[in-house]
Amino acid sequence: MICFNSSNRNDNKIIQLKELNFKSMNISREKMANNLKELILGIVKCRDYFLANSKNLNAPIHVYTHIDADGLSSGAILGKALYRENFPFQISILRQLEREEIERVIKDIKKYHNFTIFADFGSGQYLELQEKLCNDNSCPFIILDHHLPQNIANQEEKELIEEIRKKTSPWHANPYFYGIDGSTEISGAGMSYFFAKCLNPNNIDLSPIAIVGATGDIQNQAKNKSFVGVNLHILEDAKKVNLIDIINDLNFSSLKPINEAIAYSKDINLPGLSNDANRCLKFLQTTSVLMENADGTIRSLNTLTQDEKQKISTAIIEYSTIKLNIEPGEIIEKLIVHKYLLTREQNYEELHDAGEFSNMLNSCGRSNNGSIGIALAMGDRNSAYVQAKQILNDYKKLLFDGLNWIYNEKKIQSKTNIQYFFGEDKIPETIIGVIASILIFDKGDEIDVEKPIFGIARRQDEDVYKISGRAHKSIVRKGINLSDAIRKTLERLEIDVMGGGHPPAAGTTVPIDKIEVFLDTIDLIVKNQIS
Ligand code: C5P
Ligand code: ZN
Repeated sequence: MICFNSSNRNDNKIIQLKELNFKSMNISREKMANNLKELILGIVKCRDYFLANSKNLNAPIHVYTHIDADGLSSGAILGKALYRENFPFQISILRQLEREEIERVIKDIKKYHNFTIFADFGSGQYLELQEKLCNDNSCPFIILDHHLPQNIANQEEKELIEEIRKKTSPWHANPYFYGIDGSTEISGAGMSYFFAKCLNPNNIDLSPIAIVGATGDIQNQAKNKSFVGVNLHILEDAKKVNLIDIINDLNFSSLKPINEAIAYSKDINLPGLSNDANRCLKFLQTTSVLMENADGTIRSLNTLTQDEKQKISTAIIEYSTIKLNIEPGEIIEKLIVHKYLLTREQNYEELHDAGEFSNMLNSCGRSNNGSIGIALAMGDRNSAYVQAKQILNDYKKLLFDGLNWIYNEKKIQSKTNIQYFFGEDKIPETIIGVIASILIFDKGDEIDVEKPIFGIARRQDEDVYKISGRAHKSIVRKGINLSDAIRKTLERLEIDVMGGGHPPAAGTTVPIDKIEVFLDTIDLIVKNQIS
């Protein structure tokens, strides 16, 4: 039976999941533990370098971080850890560490001589940072990142990665140095969390924010939306101090009327019920769960109790196994997802679930309100929370309008191996990547999940397009690597800008007159990756 209660059973659940995920990663538990040990040793070196070089500075420690949920979580974890150790600090939030930003940042560092921490970016730009800062003893810095390092195409380039590790120790910590996959096993917030824990073990209470960051980077993509690898250790820390509860939930939209959520689910196909909201309602009425709200409208998933969810799940499993002859394991895998609830946030609807929390942070970062996001993730439940609620509403509307515009106006275009859309005057640069992610993960009718998608938005103040690429995990498994595809395309076209990220999500900027040739070239490069 699937358990819908958040009781002690969850402890067993985590242990079982861990076994499962180690197995599915095809990596032994010992190797995994050893990799984590090595990672922590690398971070300890960073910490020692930080402690040795951050005393007697005239300016506060300067943390630079990324505008997305993972970046803001990283900034909040570092801010909190520095505050607790009485280090004066300031945090700056950047949309990306592009060349011009690096110039600006370096100018500032040389002026104020702060100790600088780059979090959730920096690995993709480590050569520039090394060249400009390493010869200057008065400008020490560290990088805590999880992206593929500059000039590394994928995690199989082990010798090159090892060379970078040796060359950049002790100021550069990155999971790929230790055989850990930065796109699925640990986020920027996770790296910042381990750094914070190395500073002071009491920072274990920051583990939920590391999980929020990892959720923001969509790292809970294993079976039933579980985490793998190092993220599981962070989850164990959070459980140990009773700050996260893992519950089972139904994999349907939590906001739509439940009959519609089941009828129009993209993941779960139930012949006889799918695409027919009325029949779904009749089916649900057989479960003894009261379906209507007091005003006669149909209840949504987020208003159901765990007991009611249990009844509905049992009915769906019975329907699938008896009427449709589907193996119970097959339906359970699709029907049940894990939710990660932050136990201290019970009174804050948008912060209780790690996924919702990361959404709120994203809304702050993507609307130039990153500092509100940082305050929120550092624990402000007064003014930051009140402001963030309004920001989240506006952001949801922006996304909703953008997606509707794409679907209604049929804005998705295709080449042989890729699909793409221009944001025009409707979708700004700040949310182009979010829209691309939603399109791929929502698997709308117009979307071909077999092809990567590129969202393209004109930057307001420059003659460039911002490009965000996203690929479904099913094609990443087949060899698609967008970070590598973007870097190779830039190289082939001799476009001198930074680009990269992870195999399923990567970005760059391209001069406006190069966009067509960029798309044609990346179309060919993606073709080569598949073949
Ligand atoms: O900008 P966008 O959201 O599309 O980026 C997708 C991923 O690629 C993010 O993790 C981002 O940090 C990374 N990225 C990068 N270098 C760039 C642009 C994006 O590492 N120049
Ligand atoms: Zn990240």
